[in-house]
Amino acid sequence: MAKAVATINLKGGVGKSTMTAALAEFMAGDFGKRVLLIDLDPQTNLTTMMIGSDQWQALNESGRTLKALFEEALDSKAATFDIEDAIQRNVSPLANLGGIDLLASSLDMIEISEEVAAWQYDEPDSLEPVLVLKRAVDRIRDQYDYILIDCPPNMGIITRNGLMLADAYVIPTIPDVLSTYGIPQIQKRVRMFSDKTGHKIKALGLIITKYRKGTNLHRDTIQRLQNAVLDYDALPAHERELTERPPNVIPVYIPDAIAIASAADYFDWGTLNKRYGGGATVGALNELTSHLMTNVEIYT
Ligand SMILES: Nc1ncnc2c1ncn2[C@@H]1O[C@H](COP(=O)(O)OP(=O)(O)O)[C@@H](O)[C@H]1O
Ligand SMILES: [Mg+2]
Repeated sequence: MAKAVATINLKGGVGKSTMTAALAEFMAGDFGKRVLLIDLDPQTNLTTMMIGSDQWQALNESGRTLKALFEEALDSKAATFDIEDAIQRNVSPLANLGGIDLLASSLDMIEISEEVAAWQYDEPDSLEPVLVLKRAVDRIRDQYDYILIDCPPNMGIITRNGLMLADAYVIPTIPDVLSTYGIPQIQKRVRMFSDKTGHKIKALGLIITKYRKGTNLHRDTIQRLQNAVLDYDALPAHERELTERPPNVIPVYIPDAIAIASAADYFDWGTLNKRYGGGATVGALNELTSHLMTNVEIYT
């Protein structure tokens, strides 16, 4: 059955959606995996990266985005959400890259998320409001090897729906001061959610994005993040029990590369190598994908 991984950061612009798209494309293209992408962010960046804005518009108008799933859960009179009909098949702009499907997001998810949040507020002890996505996706889960969930930059009810489905999560971050600031917050919130629901979610670590080799800031920030883990591990057991282990820094850094930024364009470059600029960039993306797949299998 598919292993599901969520990409989370409370900060926007750190490469969550770009990494989610790239991981799916390398899983499918280099490793022959079947991948389901779930876009939970109302900004719909992952969706438009994978299907372009024209197809998204058509989907949105015909009620085949995740907004319709939450709408159905909120209102028994709403149209039924048919997940098989909503799923977009073989979605990469690379025409000859198969194996990636998508559940699209919608700009209207903002309103819906407020309604789902109100439902949770009215029934604070119920898990129903965070089980909407999982219930739907569980029916099709065995069609895939991996499910990648791109979350909005908050820990709201829609992200919590994603976490309920996830076996593990990764935190993409630029190695600078402001991007790494909220990391302990994310860990804490995921742990609280896990404790409340009884659903275990493994932290797979930090994905270093937009890495600029040779800059002191990036090198020092990575060093600080690594030292935090080493310091923790050096604590006596009774002290370790009191706090959480900081997330590992995944040892493959994704460079700040114009080719990766250009990959947001819905354009058929022909091959993964051309789309992601070849050379070291493609090597890093392939290695990161391999690293994550191995760790998902080991730790979940
Ligand atoms: N490794 C990278 N090198 C260069 N630009 C990148 C890289 N990763 C992401 N970007 C660009 O940075 C911006 C933010 O990335 P995005 O994936 O949308 O972040 P998020 O989903 O965290 O908000 C986008 O313009 C994207 O194209
Ligand atoms: Mg995004």
